Amino acid sequence: MKNIIVTGVSRGIGLAVAQTFLAKGYKVFGTSTSGNSPLTDANFECIPLKLNDSASIKAFYKTIQNHSIDGIINNAAILLENWSQTAVDMDQLRQTFEVNVFGTIDLTESLLPLLNNGGRIISLSSGWGTFSESSFDATVPHYKMSKTVLNMYTKLLAKRLESRSIVVSAVNPGWVRTDMGGGGAPVQPQEVGQRIVDLFENNTQSGHLWYNGKISEW
Ligand SMILES: NC(=O)c1ccc[n+]([C@@H]2O[C@H](COP(=O)([O-])OP(=O)(O)OC[C@H]3O[C@@H](n4cnc5c(N)ncnc54)[C@H](OP(=O)(O)O)[C@@H]3O)[C@@H](O)[C@H]2O)c1
Repeated sequence: MKNIIVTGVSRGIGLAVAQTFLAKGYKVFGTSTSGNSPLTDANFECIPLKLNDSASIKAFYKTIQNHSIDGIINNAAILLENWSQTAVDMDQLRQTFEVNVFGTIDLTESLLPLLNNGGRIISLSSGWGTFSESSFDATVPHYKMSKTVLNMYTKLLAKRLESRSIVVSAVNPGWVRTDMGGGGAPVQPQEVGQRIVDLFENNTQSGHLWYNGKISEW
């Protein structure tokens, strides 16, 4: 049985990703800040993890360290600012980077020794983090910058892990109906869950951003 880590399985896209892996017979180690999740599958374990707390990342590693891992899905993230906000608020920028950048990178780096050769790392990015976005504007600065950094980390890691045949990818899920995306979003989390599991199972091209099952411009 393959072991997958999915961060942020309490709700939204992470919950759908975990459900899709479980339905296909994977073992899922999920995380939420409280350690709770609506999932009750026998192949599922929920472990508390706060990405903005390095002690919590270390505690998570201790819980998982005796397992070998086949996939890491970096899903958990925060979006703090109002969607019309253009001004940089340094507190919000720091808080956003603590979770979306520093915590996500710290967790990933700590798990690399447990990741099997030929494994997969998939990070949830966003069209808002790309330089190629056609409708680019100055809004949502902290979140956008955090996802841009995650994109570069994806490319760096892909190069670094080539010799271990580990495939590293970023995914733009589109605008998804979750607490973060809001009720007006057109894409259901289940669609994204399916696409991420498809990418996990079928993609061998490392170092790319994916959107709707295709390679997309950074
Ligand atoms: N929704 C969209 O339209 C959209 C678009 C583009 C990209 N994305 C990306 O897709 C991913 C999932 O988004 P979503 O819409 O499903 O978000 P969501 O509904 O807000 O869920 C966020 C998840 O992240 C966890 N989380 C929050 N703060 C955390 C922290 N400090 N440490 C660890 N975990 C934390 C939450 O756990 P708790 O419940 O315990 O707080 C929750 O499980 C994110 O990376 C997001 O940036 C989403």
